[in-house]
Amino acid sequence: MEQEQNIIDRMVYLRKTLDMARILTGIQSSGRPHLGNLLGAILPAIELSKDEKNESLFFIADLHSLTTIKDPAVRTENVNATAATWLAFGFDTEQNLLYRQSRVTEVCELTWFLNCFTPYPMLANAHSFKEKSDKLSDVNAGLFTYPVLMASDIILYDADIVPVGKDQRQHIEITRDIALTFNHRYGDTFIIPEAKIDEQVMTIPGTDGQKMSKSYGNTIDIFLPDKALRKQVMSIVTDSTPLEEPKNPDTCNVFALYRLLASKSQVQEMRKKYEQGNYGYGHAKQELFELILSKYEKQRELFNHYMEHADELNQKLENGEEKARAIAQQVLARVKAKLGF
Ligand code: ADP
Ligand code: TRP
Repeated sequence: MEQEQNIIDRMVYLRKTLDMARILTGIQSSGRPHLGNLLGAILPAIELSKDEKNESLFFIADLHSLTTIKDPAVRTENVNATAATWLAFGFDTEQNLLYRQSRVTEVCELTWFLNCFTPYPMLANAHSFKEKSDKLSDVNAGLFTYPVLMASDIILYDADIVPVGKDQRQHIEITRDIALTFNHRYGDTFIIPEAKIDEQVMTIPGTDGQKMSKSYGNTIDIFLPDKALRKQVMSIVTDSTPLEEPKNPDTCNVFALYRLLASKSQVQEMRKKYEQGNYGYGHAKQELFELILSKYEKQRELFNHYMEHADELNQKLENGEEKARAIAQQVLARVKAKLGF
């Protein structure tokens, strides 16, 4: 036991002295990534991964998505689209790991062990479970134990830092609770992870001005073919101020999205046009559409390339999975030794 405790102590000490961290995050494959996912989660995580002192493990939570998506073809399409998005935006899979959660089956074994250390009321009181069970018709046990699988995702890889959106704060608290309970009973076995929640990251508005979300049907998918993308942009909700009248950019959904993507001078330019009048919402939408096409030209090409070359995509994922499995097996062995299995 003492020797095992030393492993965690040594790991924590080494990472502290070298000022390095293992960063881990997952994205559910419950749809194709939209502009909100991209600006709110994917791009900030890729930025973090560029710090050479960090080691980043990013995965596609396809087991979690089975709680809601039962069709294998839909799931595969979503998994591929999510992986293609990370790659299109330059996530370096040589330095870091990109993998499918389901391909490292050790996570299921650890989930069972952790289930047996998770108090029922902690899951019954989780906000996200309460919310989902109110909303969905299929309230399955997977939805209930969702946070335990998430805890396994994190502690199976000795992760230090978990960048997530605000909505995931409670899930990280649950992860910490479970890991601390286990450590308390069996001696240090798990690294206790910390959430990294960027309060600055704005909630990206959707086409109707509410939070952009797959579940509200108000998303912008920057990887759509031109025509379909234009249709999404044109569907942004605006008021009915006539074309010739001046308009307030600060209350307009089109401007809210434009300012997230445009340069400072482009934003100033558009603000002037709004305030001068003789500039319609249709014009603003066309400019937003063209900006998305030009800004993400390279990424749109790369995304399509990976979607059309699933073999290349799979190869990259399989490389990540092999490396992820090696870490997972070591940690799981540590747990099994403690439990006497
Ligand atoms: P959705 O609401 O579309 O189902 P998810 O819950 O799958 O999105 O979110 C995946 C990640 O993207 C999370 O880290 C979440 O915080 C982030 N995210 C989702 N929507 C937005 C948004 N509108 N603005 C900023 N970040 C977002
Ligand atoms: N629950 C997360 C979400 O919906 C996705 C997720 C699953 C995750 N496992 C994780 C995030 C582990 C961070 C770490 O966004």
